[in-house]
Amino acid sequence: MSQKTWGGRFAEGTDARVEAFTQSVSFDRRLYRHDIRASQAHAAMLAEVGLLTAAEAEAIRTALDEIGAVIADGGMAFSAALEDIHTHIERALTDRLGDVGRKLHTGRSRNDQVVTDLKLWVRDALDELDGLLADLQRAFVLSAEREHGVVLPGYTHLQRAQPVLAPHYYLAYVEKLQRDRERAADCRERVNVLPLGAAALAGTSLPIDRESVRAKLGFDAVAANSLDVSGDRDFLLEFVFVLSVVAAHLSGWAEEWVLWSTTEFGFLDIPDAFCTGSSIMPHKKNPDVLELTRGKTGRVVGALQALFVLVKGLPLAYNRDLQEDKALAFDAWDTVSGCLAVAAPLVAQSKLRRETIAARLEDGFLDATTLMEGLIARGVPMRSAHEAVGRLVRECEGKRCRLADLPDAAFDAVLGEPGASATGGLRQTLGVANALAAFRSYGSTAPAEVAKQVAAWKSRLGM
Ligand code: ARG
Repeated sequence: MSQKTWGGRFAEGTDARVEAFTQSVSFDRRLYRHDIRASQAHAAMLAEVGLLTAAEAEAIRTALDEIGAVIADGGMAFSAALEDIHTHIERALTDRLGDVGRKLHTGRSRNDQVVTDLKLWVRDALDELDGLLADLQRAFVLSAEREHGVVLPGYTHLQRAQPVLAPHYYLAYVEKLQRDRERAADCRERVNVLPLGAAALAGTSLPIDRESVRAKLGFDAVAANSLDVSGDRDFLLEFVFVLSVVAAHLSGWAEEWVLWSTTEFGFLDIPDAFCTGSSIMPHKKNPDVLELTRGKTGRVVGALQALFVLVKGLPLAYNRDLQEDKALAFDAWDTVSGCLAVAAPLVAQSKLRRETIAARLEDGFLDATTLMEGLIARGVPMRSAHEAVGRLVRECEGKRCRLADLPDAAFDAVLGEPGASATGGLRQTLGVANALAAFRSYGSTAPAEVAKQVAAWKSRLGM
């Protein structure tokens, strides 16, 4: 008799090259726990509706537990001849239970089985992702507290722009990661719809109870269209998209910190434990973790591209192309979870080089925009104020000095009357400390606003 679950129709055995080419057990074996869980729920339901006896369902449940333990111990011999993890588990079951094992696949197909297992796996991954993202958020909030009071130059176009408080900087990443968590939670809603019972594509003539399986497996709803759900991979596209946004966030952060750890910037000390050296240059301490984080983003975004190309042009319903989905999703997940696991301690333990940052903080006209706003507050039209401060900056560049070094007359000229800058208190907008203290809007780097945000995040993240 054929080894295959579908052998009845075939007169010849399968070519070994075809078995090697079509197998998925080399990568889908990591679904074994989810497959067993789904099969146990399915068997229990079959007993409820009279398609199995209670004793048969119980025998199946116990045997599946044993098979799970064998796989966990590395005791299962995987073979391309048995295609995938689902067939391996079913074969192990029939080896133990004979005809009772041969009843398990009643009212289901591998098509709905595969996508059910995959959804259970993605659901677990999303829950783990939420925890990893929250850990990284806490590392940033921890840094925000540790670097309390430090002022950083903020950049646009990687040119010095305006001063920002270090906690404001760290909380910017906390916000991004929060959106990532929200995206993951939103994705989970569409993941958590039960496919099982769709069978091959059209449902079944057997009296299955999908609602019972839904409740047993903790799904929120039962998919309403078998033809749709048996081949649907929208949820996987969303999952890998969620991962791609996380990867993009990590990549931007990593790039920033690679720059910050250079001699040229000198903003950041990354602990030795999170750096590596050079085999030839004895002095080197390289930010390889950050570089790899930046580089690995390519794999994740690549997986998203590959998944889109995979589903593009697929007619309803299941097509074997879809077997390729898992390797991509697994790799995207392994990559992002690996990056997050190392990012959290790296963030928590890296410290700002306060002296280097402070020593150059007055360079680059970080106070120019606040000076302009000071003029606006004194009645100068915005465009005129912009123009006037631009001239002052030009003057400074000629003299190689800062705005604060200009004589009173320069500011009086801008305000149109002698002595006006003194009465108008314009000098109080100059210098980074004054510029920073002047901020007031909600969401800004205003010290009082930032303090509120740090407190809010601490309580939100249970710190
Ligand atoms: N290993 C396959 C997959 O992951 C199982 C589904 C095969 N279904 C079928 N009708 N041939 O997609």
